[in-house]
This record gives sequence, structure tokens and C-alpha cells, in this order.
Amino acid sequence: MPHPVVVAIDGPAGAGKSTIARRVAARLGFVYIDSGAMYRAVALWAVRENMDLEDAARLERVADTARIEFAPGGSTVFLDGEDVSEAIRTPGVSQAASIVSAIPGVRRALVEQQRRMGATESVVMEGRDIGSVVFPNADVKVFLDADPAARTQRRALELEAKGEPVSSEEVARELAERDRRDSTRAAAPLVEAPGAIRVDTTRLSIEEVEQVILELIAQRVSTAR
Ligand code: DC
Repeated sequence: MPHPVVVAIDGPAGAGKSTIARRVAARLGFVYIDSGAMYRAVALWAVRENMDLEDAARLERVADTARIEFAPGGSTVFLDGEDVSEAIRTPGVSQAASIVSAIPGVRRALVEQQRRMGATESVVMEGRDIGSVVFPNADVKVFLDADPAARTQRRALELEAKGEPVSSEEVARELAERDRRDSTRAAAPLVEAPGAIRVDTTRLSIEEVEQVILELIAQRVSTAR
């Protein structure tokens, strides 16, 4: 039986990872995994329990014991059986996720779960360290990027569509803060993984980015087999 295919998509917030990863997975019949949602679920737990976000030992225990599951399609996320898909997307949880994801023990626990998810089924997994740490031997590694202004605009439109308008200045500040934290932390910082193909999505439509990635996958996977 051929081994399951792993497509790793990394990049900063607002580069288009979720939209693209979900579409590519649907096109190929692969499982879509949003690894950021897992860090967000741990952060949500911590915020609800009013935990100190720097309490590494306690947060590691949360990451080890939290039951984080995805419904088929990957967009609905459950934390211990509760649908938290909306609750994990607030600006407060975004910032908390960026803080708790810097804790090595939290990363260890979630990376173990992510590797198990990619061991048996073909997956498109998106995050910050999928091509560098979780699956360094992924069949295809993509680093999605876009200008900060484009990423800010996308995130602002997303929040507006959800009925939570935030000023562009505030979104830009929040993204810059997360980018800085995600790329400068000691544990598995956001980096372009060796062998990753960089795709700048600033001036591309969703369909164009999807096409580029589907072609890459077709090339890589057919040469590997
Ligand atoms: O992709 P996202 O914005 O939903 O991710 C939320 C936070 O989780 C982000 O600030 C960085 C962190 N993260 C991570 O450290 N490693 C991953 N593989 C995915 C997300």
C-alpha cells in the first residue's frame, strides 16, 4: 500500500493557509488539519480557567489531557466534546495561543498528536512548524506568505464578516505582535523549512494559489512514486 501523503503548509497569520489548505485537501480527498486550532484550544482552556499563560508545567498538562478533535472536513473543532470552533477565534484567544505555543511541553504534546494524525491518512496540515518539525520528510512543503498590508486587510475583512469589526490599525498591531512572537521564540519558531517552496499570495487569487499548490503536489508525488 502506498504510504500516506503529507502536504505541509506553513506561514504567518493571514497568508491564506487555512483557506488554501482546506480547498486543496477537499480537492484531493485528503484530511485537512489546522494545527493552529489545537494551540488555540489549549489557549481557550487556559483563558477560561484564568490560568497564568506562563505556567509551563500546568499548560503542558492541559495539552497532554485535552481531547482535541476535528469533525470530517476539519473546520469544526471539539475540545473535550464541546464545539469550540467559534470560541477559539477571538482576538484574545489568538494572542493567548501565540503565548502558550512558545512553551516546549505544549508543543511536544501537540506535535505527538499531529504526527499520529498524519501517520495513517493522507493529510494537508497547516501551521508554523509542520515542514520544519512535525513532518520534516513531508512529500510537499509550502511556505505561504503575503505582504503585511495584504494580510492585515484579509484578517480585518474576516473579522468584519463575523460581525466583529476591528480597526485596521488594531489588526495590523495584533498581526505584527504575533508574527514577532511566533518567529522569535526558541521552540520551533516560524521558519521557511528546508526544501519548502515559497508562494507569495499577495497578488494571487485563491484559485491561483490553489492551482500552484495542486501542480506542485502532482509533480512531487508522481516523482516520489
Ligand atoms: O494559525 P493560527 O493563527 O490559528 O495559530 C494560532 C497560534 O498558534 C499562532 O500564533 C502560532 C501558533 N501555532 C504554532 O506555534 N505552531 C503551529 N503549528 C500552528 C500554530
